Amino acid sequence: TKIAVFASGSGSNFQAIQQAIDIGKLDAQIEIVITDKPDAVVVKRAKNFNIPVFSFSPKRFETKGAYEQEIIEILKEHQVEWVILAGYMRLIGHTLLSAFSNRIVNIHPSLLPSFPGKDAIGQAMEHGVKVTGVTVHLVDEGMDTGPILSQAAVEVVEGNRAATEARIHAVEHELYTSTLQKLFENENKLVH
Ligand code: GRF
Repeated sequence: TKIAVFASGSGSNFQAIQQAIDIGKLDAQIEIVITDKPDAVVVKRAKNFNIPVFSFSPKRFETKGAYEQEIIEILKEHQVEWVILAGYMRLIGHTLLSAFSNRIVNIHPSLLPSFPGKDAIGQAMEHGVKVTGVTVHLVDEGMDTGPILSQAAVEVVEGNRAATEARIHAVEHELYTSTLQKLFENENKLVH
């Protein structure tokens, strides 16, 4: 299964996905990394794995539709079948959504529908919940609202954001790769 990973930040989920591929746990190929942040750490990580990167500045385009159209061209060139969002900090617009209908997956660091949007971990700590978690879901036009594919709970380390975040990231890396593997397996069963 050919995939593209979209990321704006550190790219630890990108790396976990590539490592799962390397050890044969995930039957997929990352054809390209797409980023809206040319200086993001994920760009260096992608280069370390020799994966091509397409970085673009949204400001240089007049509309979201215009840069998404450009992204679609690149995804088509690389025969990408699934778009995997991993810390991509932009809402997907209707141009990309209609080109990859039900083929865009996101990971979010909370048990949705709790704490959608930015800084879900901060929101959870602020609210004083004892348990938060991770959600993998299909992307629709809303912010963190699409159909849920999988979830895992994570206990908050009270008063310690860094430790809570570390737990969440560790769970994300496992849950994302195992969910994608199931998704691609099911699809291949349906097709063949
Ligand atoms: C993750 O917590 C993910 O759930 C959220 O953004 C973060 C990305 O982390 N959407 P990384 O860049 O993969 O390290």
